[in-house]
Amino acid sequence: MSGGKTVLCLPWLVCCVFSGSGNGLAHTLIGSFDTRLGLTGMVAVDNETLIVAGRNFICSINTSASNANETVIQNVTTGLNRTLGFNDVTVAMIYSSETKRFVTCENNYDKCDVRNVYNISQMIASIPFSVKRHETASMILRDGTNDYVFVARPLTACCKDAGLVWYKLDNNFGVEENKKLFRFDNNKVTVITQKFVKAVSVNQFRLFFSQQLVINEGKHVSRVAQICQKTGKDAKYAEDTFVDLPLECGDFRQLEVVEYISQSKLFVAAFTRGSDAAICLYNFKDIQDK
Ligand SMILES: *[C@@H]1O[C@H](CO)[C@@H](O)[C@H](O)[C@H]1NC(C)=O
Ligand SMILES: *[C@@H]1O[C@H](CO)[C@@H](O)[C@H](O)[C@H]1NC(C)=O
Ligand SMILES: *[C@@H]1O[C@H](CO)[C@@H](O)[C@H](O)[C@H]1NC(C)=O
Ligand SMILES: *[C@@H]1O[C@H](CO)[C@@H](O)[C@H](O)[C@H]1NC(C)=O
Ligand SMILES: *[C@@H]1O[C@H](CO)[C@@H](O)[C@H](O)[C@H]1NC(C)=O
Ligand SMILES: *[C@@H]1O[C@H](CO)[C@@H](O)[C@H](O)[C@H]1NC(C)=O
Repeated sequence: MSGGKTVLCLPWLVCCVFSGSGNGLAHTLIGSFDTRLGLTGMVAVDNETLIVAGRNFICSINTSASNANETVIQNVTTGLNRTLGFNDVTVAMIYSSETKRFVTCENNYDKCDVRNVYNISQMIASIPFSVKRHETASMILRDGTNDYVFVARPLTACCKDAGLVWYKLDNNFGVEENKKLFRFDNNKVTVITQKFVKAVSVNQFRLFFSQQLVINEGKHVSRVAQICQKTGKDAKYAEDTFVDLPLECGDFRQLEVVEYISQSKLFVAAFTRGSDAAICLYNFKDIQDK
């Protein structure tokens, strides 16, 4: 982090101000990338395997490589036959160590691909749904014996598929149970969801963090939506468990990144306002109970 002031607010509202930057502590893995490529995603597979994606590439990196020449394990070019050129961007990388499924989605392709996480050129299957915007949050998880993919899509130009959709994958990576769409609070026309920051699964809870634009004010606010997944042999999602609540950090309201720390059962979230940033910790119980 650099520039601006960073404030850390704990749940009991003690705030700390950090100054300085992280520069100088870095261990360089890959010194320079072609900046035209754009970086859109990063997934840490294990201690030493990191997968990075962007325009026309998906690259796996060995973070413990002893010299820079051995850092890149594989670098796969994407989109050649799909986009008539090099306009493709890998917009989503969905991975969970639990399902061992690694899914990549491209902005110009109507399917997502299941790849072998340790051999990213090996396509195991293509699954019949698409994720075409980077502002989409997705996750894959196992519930009982089934794997589910969740996709939270913001408003798109065509407006038709904004909302939360989930797919149950069968053993052949087909979509067994069709998508079920949940719309986010759309009655407030002055607030539009522009971006989903993160999808997280905790126990039976499915949480989706998003950023909204308040049109009249030109400001951003943030929300977290929650839905419960009922476990059991016919796992379902109860519409009556859907809750969507505002998220803020002191008087900071524009959520940028969020992570779940499973050991402490806390969410840590960073918000910005101009060049200032604030970081807040949330107890999962606080989010559940609201
Ligand atoms: C990864 O880290 C864990 C915990 O620190 C350790 O137990 C494990 O051996 C490491 N694995 C590799 C491949 O380095
Ligand atoms: C990563 O690099 C370390 C150190 O050079 C090596 O021991 C390990 O086998 C490498 N892992 C992979 C997946 O290439
Ligand atoms: C890395 O590759 C460069 C260019 O191919 C070479 O000049 C250099 O000696 C290599 N470094 C090591 C440590 O192998
Ligand atoms: C990966 O491939 C892309 C596209 O072919 C290339 O432009 C890029 O420099 C490569 N990245 C690395 C780290 O080798
Ligand atoms: C891409 O297109 C070329 C030329 O038409 C073709 O030879 C190649 O098999 C295609 N590759 C894939 C993965 O479809
Ligand atoms: C990776 O997958 C490709 C495509 O399926 C295959 O040709 C290649 O042999 C695999 N590499 C390894 C190291 O298994």
